[in-house]
Amino acid sequence: MAYNNPNIMDKIFEPVFGLFYSSRYSSFIRYMDIAGTENIFEFGCGSGQLTRRLARRLEGGGHITSIDIAPYWIGKMRKKLGAESRVTIILGDLLGIDPGKGQYDLVFVHYVLHDIARFNRYAYVVALSSLLREGGRLCICEPTKASHGMPAFEIRDLMEKCGLEKRDSGYGINGVKSDFSATFVRPAQKS
Ligand SMILES: C[S@@+](CC[C@H](N)C(=O)[O-])C[C@H]1O[C@@H](n2cnc3c(N)ncnc32)[C@H](O)[C@@H]1O
Repeated sequence: MAYNNPNIMDKIFEPVFGLFYSSRYSSFIRYMDIAGTENIFEFGCGSGQLTRRLARRLEGGGHITSIDIAPYWIGKMRKKLGAESRVTIILGDLLGIDPGKGQYDLVFVHYVLHDIARFNRYAYVVALSSLLREGGRLCICEPTKASHGMPAFEIRDLMEKCGLEKRDSGYGINGVKSDFSATFVRPAQKS
């Protein structure tokens, strides 16, 4: 689906999806196990359904920087978030922007990488992994069905090629059996 170029059905059903997927969002937020103090980067925020829920958990001074390539979804998100000071919203393509290399404790990707053309995924994972500080985590959740998604082994391969180490992974962590969630860590540089 060209979610970054939404059609009329995507637009009409977005609020319904938000409610329908509410428990998936909550489960993934639990999975990310945040302390509330983290500097967080979100890749592909869409209309901010997950962002809004996560922002409420940042009681310890944490912050989220969210990027999306679609003006329509970023417009929706700006309206929904209003004056939320814990979120910075960027409209654009990560490959042309540096939101802060090595600055983030947590980078997360929820239902985005599978939407990017396969030949281009590595470039985005390189960019995402470069945002992590040493010891920082990258959490990802993607569908893995042949009809909609990408294989879990491809996610692992991409992360490992970028020097990230797998901490844990599993299917169905968000309640959807075919969804794959995983956490990768940027190891400390050897001196
Ligand atoms: C299926 S939606 C998921 C949105 C959100 N993460 C969620 O789970 O509700 C995929 C989002 O990824 C965005 N996206 C796709 N390619 C992107 C890219 N290269 N850079 C940033 N965002 C992108 C789309 O515009 C869309 O908003």
